[in-house]
Amino acid sequence: MTPFDPASLRAQFPILAERIGANPLHYLDNAATAQMPRAVLDAMVAHETHARANVHRSVHTLAERATRAFEGAREAVAAYLNAAQPEEVVFTSGATAALNLVAHSFGASLRPGDEVVISTLDHHSNIVPWQMLRDRSGIVLKAARVTPEGRLDLEHLAEVIGPRTRLVAITHASNVTGAITPVAAVVALARKVDARVLLDGCQMAPHGPVDVQALGVDFYALSGHKMFGPNGIGALWAPFDLLESMPPFLGGGEMIRTVTLERTIYAKPPMRFEAGTPPIAQAVGLGAAARFLSALDHQGVEGHLARLTGRILDGLAALDRGRQRIRVIGPTSLEARLPVISFDIAGAHPHDLCQMLDSHGVALRGGHHCAQPLMEHFDLAGTTRASLALYNDDADVDALLSGLDDALTRLSAG
Ligand SMILES: Cc1ncc(COP(=O)(O)O)c(C=O)c1O
Repeated sequence: MTPFDPASLRAQFPILAERIGANPLHYLDNAATAQMPRAVLDAMVAHETHARANVHRSVHTLAERATRAFEGAREAVAAYLNAAQPEEVVFTSGATAALNLVAHSFGASLRPGDEVVISTLDHHSNIVPWQMLRDRSGIVLKAARVTPEGRLDLEHLAEVIGPRTRLVAITHASNVTGAITPVAAVVALARKVDARVLLDGCQMAPHGPVDVQALGVDFYALSGHKMFGPNGIGALWAPFDLLESMPPFLGGGEMIRTVTLERTIYAKPPMRFEAGTPPIAQAVGLGAAARFLSALDHQGVEGHLARLTGRILDGLAALDRGRQRIRVIGPTSLEARLPVISFDIAGAHPHDLCQMLDSHGVALRGGHHCAQPLMEHFDLAGTTRASLALYNDDADVDALLSGLDDALTRLSAG
């Protein structure tokens, strides 16, 4: 493992040298999409220039290289997740596709009246597929509330989990408030009624190795473009016997053992869930991202990002000067939170703020963050969000805070 060195880590991301007008780029929109290190870019270019072919089909040299690279990527993702075997990792086009896969394939085993529990913190990707399942199969969908601090309300979760609960499907960390879900408590509540647990790991997976076995969950969904890989790729993890008990979601080439005009015998997982030509170069890129992440000094990164998060939280309080104009939507402490900081500035639309900050080279996200139920809970149309990744530094935080100071001055003058 290479000890954490922010400058050399940052130098591995070519796009960070971009300029936005006269300013250096300060990329603080990592919860939407993180940037790719050279190792990921190089792996994809090398694949496309030396091994481009379809996988699991032909036996010529390029095809064998492509299959090796694709399956090697699966091994890297499995290792990053501490999966018991690579066959427990299903490549999908993204986390949304992974969550829809579970809603269809695991959802097929649910009966009318069975219950699925989500939460107000969830991203639309972990809400809409369950509503669609409810509408086609008669399951009951329940949602646990959030605390005023923007965390999962465990007391309310305990109330909504009942004898008919079959699945608790919850985000591992909020893409709005940054709150990290206390997974052990969720699993304990779910197991009391023999319910399965799904974690939407989109936001957590970029922040350190995930140990699916230690977490004790049944499904884990992740997204390539949020963990320093390309877009168009994600993954679903589940124990092999659970995957094997599930019917396929999409039908087509590659997911079969034999096909006659009358019937099809499906392949074993993971191929059963990978119909058609998969996103091969993207999988290779995700594998490279998982290797890149596996080699990091995560304690070092975590300490660095906690310090920067603290600077942002203190900086927002200082800019507010007790006027109650700036409100942090999420925990104001550093405990059990990601470096994802959402805030509302009274009288300033998040899109206007983001545009003002862009003129300082600072990339933020403003809007509902695909979490409209959470926005409704906080009675907001949207928030402005700064989300940090391992390459962010003090200069990024300085630019954010001085840009906000300038925006506040301009808004007061306007
Ligand atoms: C918590 C969470 N879940 C799901 C998604 C969707 O992921 P993908 O873009 O891979 O479909 C996102 C992306 O914004 C997210 O933040």
